[in-house]
Amino acid sequence: MAKARFSRVGFILAAAGAAVGLGNIWKFPYITGLYGGGAFVFVYLITVMLIGFSILAAEMFIGYKGGKDAVTSFELVAPEGKKSWKFAGFMFISGMIIMTFYSVVIGWIFHYIYLSASGGLPTSMDEAKTTFDTLVGLSPLTATLWHLLATVFVAAVLMGGIKAGIEKANLILMPMLMAILLGLLIYAMNFDGFGKALAFMFEPDWSKLNSEAIVRAVGHAFFTLSIGLGTMITYAASMSHKQSVFKAAFWVTMLDTLIALIAGVMLYSFIFQFHAEPGQGPGLVFKTLPVILTQLGTTGTVLAAIFFIALAFAGLTSAISLTEPAVEYFIQRFHWSRPKAVIVNTTLYFIIGISAILSYTKTYGAAFSIGGTPLFDAFEFSTDSILLPLGGLLIAIFVGYVLPEHTREEMRKHHRVPLRFYKIWRFSLRYIAPAAIIFMMLNNFGIIKI
Ligand code: TRP
Repeated sequence: MAKARFSRVGFILAAAGAAVGLGNIWKFPYITGLYGGGAFVFVYLITVMLIGFSILAAEMFIGYKGGKDAVTSFELVAPEGKKSWKFAGFMFISGMIIMTFYSVVIGWIFHYIYLSASGGLPTSMDEAKTTFDTLVGLSPLTATLWHLLATVFVAAVLMGGIKAGIEKANLILMPMLMAILLGLLIYAMNFDGFGKALAFMFEPDWSKLNSEAIVRAVGHAFFTLSIGLGTMITYAASMSHKQSVFKAAFWVTMLDTLIALIAGVMLYSFIFQFHAEPGQGPGLVFKTLPVILTQLGTTGTVLAAIFFIALAFAGLTSAISLTEPAVEYFIQRFHWSRPKAVIVNTTLYFIIGISAILSYTKTYGAAFSIGGTPLFDAFEFSTDSILLPLGGLLIAIFVGYVLPEHTREEMRKHHRVPLRFYKIWRFSLRYIAPAAIIFMMLNNFGIIKI
């Protein structure tokens, strides 16, 4: 049977679906707020263009050439004598770790869709705090049921495989997500807060830029583009061989960045219009936003519902992409059937995810933490700050140094990359990306501090 492949648009949307996630709509706006706006956005944009894009294209290139799961692709693409590079393919394990908390957050979003529909959204900051803290800290059962629903959705899509599952879900969900965000942005353009939001996001105040902000911006560039885990290897393994990885990576970077910026400007328009605080961290969309929107009466409730639906769509298409690399690995290397691979993997992260949920509760928190850090945060830190950058570093070194010179010919012929772009790309993979990643990791471990 011929291998099922994405259509061109299908691939771009699936890869963009992987990239555009909670990272864009939830995390990017709140870390921008935490680190003071424009200067952070500036560093983020530079990192995404210079480092993120290069590694994204390199990761897709490995998948395109290998045509298999991450481990097998590394093995096939590596030159003779360097086949132990296949171990780099085990970066897909980070996806399983991320899913243990990512799916829990999607569950929270489901709960907020339910609250919007049932008229239960909080109307004051105190109430908002209670609502969120109850969900996260006191009702593990509610959180677990929503986490189960997210898991079942992901499993159902993955059962359909590349064409009938992943491509189809993205062809439906991604356009809807973009339409909703654009609609909300247009709505917010009427506010006086809109101008303030633009100024906050795009007028850098350099005094706010410290080393921590830079490190977070680099880390986020990896997370938001979904690189360093084998997602893009696995997806690109099923792309059309007539398509250029360079162009595809370009479009995915553009869409991902655009959607993060739209989400940021839109949310901050609401925040400034209603005189709320920009620098509040993770509670921005779960606490502040509902309180603002309920002031607008029924319109506000409807806006809240569609916003959370869009957020859920973004999360689900990413969740699919976090799980598929592991699924594909077991199908290829252990010859498992797809249903078996999907069920085993989703069940596994569902169960471990419960420990992440419990680690945030008052009653069980202490039992589910490592050295005082809740498991939820430990899963997030180990991936975001260690494993993903490490995966990115391996990809940069592999394509920048290990792959032989004919990469240049291939990039020129198959992927239609002009020579000067090729040179910049290679320079970035060989020098800029490794330097930035090593700097960031040393900083995370507290070995250097600037
Ligand atoms: N990029 C997604 C987000 O912004 C998360 C994600 C999906 C991811 N697949 C990934 C992150 C692979 C790293 C690697 O929410």
